[in-house]
Amino acid sequence: MTRALNNILITGGAGFIGSNFIHYLSGQKDFQGRIINADCLTYAGNPENLAEIEEKWGGKRYFFVKANIRDHASMKALFSKYNIDTVIHFAAESHVDRSIYGPKEFIDTNIIGTFTLLESARESWKERDDVLFHHISTDEVFGSLGEKGAFSEETPYRPNSPYSASKASSDHLVRAYFMTYGLPATISNCSNNYGPYQFPEKMIPLMILNALEGKDLPVYGDGQNIRDWLYVRDHCDAVWTIVNKGKKGETYNVGGENEWKNIDLVRLLCRQVSDLTGRSSDEYTDRIRFVKDRPGHDRRYAINCGKIKKELGWKPSCHFEQGLLETIVWYRDHSPWVNNVKNGSYKEWVEKHYHG
Ligand code: NAD
Ligand code: DAU
Repeated sequence: MTRALNNILITGGAGFIGSNFIHYLSGQKDFQGRIINADCLTYAGNPENLAEIEEKWGGKRYFFVKANIRDHASMKALFSKYNIDTVIHFAAESHVDRSIYGPKEFIDTNIIGTFTLLESARESWKERDDVLFHHISTDEVFGSLGEKGAFSEETPYRPNSPYSASKASSDHLVRAYFMTYGLPATISNCSNNYGPYQFPEKMIPLMILNALEGKDLPVYGDGQNIRDWLYVRDHCDAVWTIVNKGKKGETYNVGGENEWKNIDLVRLLCRQVSDLTGRSSDEYTDRIRFVKDRPGHDRRYAINCGKIKKELGWKPSCHFEQGLLETIVWYRDHSPWVNNVKNGSYKEWVEKHYHG
């Protein structure tokens, strides 16, 4: 059966990875279809990320629809109006710290929202086998690693935060819809992304902006926690590879093969900022503050992405120091974007919850 790939529903396309994915897709010559971006614009959703796409393709090949994935009627209407044949499901509450302060939104969007979307797809695609539901998930569902080893697709799920538990639950639902109803589906579990348009509550953009603004750099706990960092464009490339070549019912781990202790990453970032500003590196590293740890803070993540490399021919390609430098330059050069984002509801939240 030849796959239809004409009308792609992207959920959460106004967020960090979703908007990068739409930019990526707009540059793919092998895709000439329509993109329907359904996003309810939470604090993390920003249509400004897609202003160029809206200008170039709005109403022709690109359609933004302000809609909540928890709203069954809206989702059903989208499938029917745009004859959706592919779903790439990014929409989620994505920040671990917020899930600690307020887990309910995470349950509602990540679990009930994914369930609602799956139901809409199942009802709309009854007679079709040429369709695909691709679910974007995270390596955090696997829990925390010791000093050695890496998560593979066979690693048992052991989520430790309300965020990762809600993502784990959504992964299980996608799998169950494939096994029970035969809904054509794939899942990817990815490590930490970085790059342009990332909301500045996440570690890398937060540290960049604090350094540029002369503020403290708050490192949680002892700074020895390890994350595997992947440039967002490499993630987009992996998702497009799976959507085109992935096998239905399979999950794929996606990672950067690029582990960093948080403290070492912050020190590297300080050096790169200092190279750009011409100020001494000490001026930045002196602002590093070890602050109260995140409860349930996972110690180490690492991804074995051998399966997607071997079976689908994808691999991470961006060199970390280069990607990080480009990201710093992007934030430095986009102060109107930064100001708009920081002056929204985020400001209030930071004042209430954040250290430093
Ligand atoms: P983000 O928080 O930047 O963006 C989320 C987007 O979803 C926003 O545009 C928001 O408005 C939208 N959204 C939230 N709730 C919605 C709802 N109920 N209905 C419609 N839209 C809604 O998130 P991100 O960092 O871009 O992450 C995207 C996906 O990738 C998530 O599923 C996340 O779990 C996963 N992921 C993220 C990373 C990472 O490092 N950021 C790594 C692995 C996996
Ligand atoms: O691993 C994939 C996950 O990566 C995604 O599923 C999540 O959506 C995404 O937010 C990210 O989760 P993390 O919790 O790893 O990302 P965060 O940027 O919040 O934190 C990265 C590391 O830095 C983590 O060990 C906590 C630490 N940290 C974070 C912040 C915000 C600090 O030390 N100081 C900070 O101020």
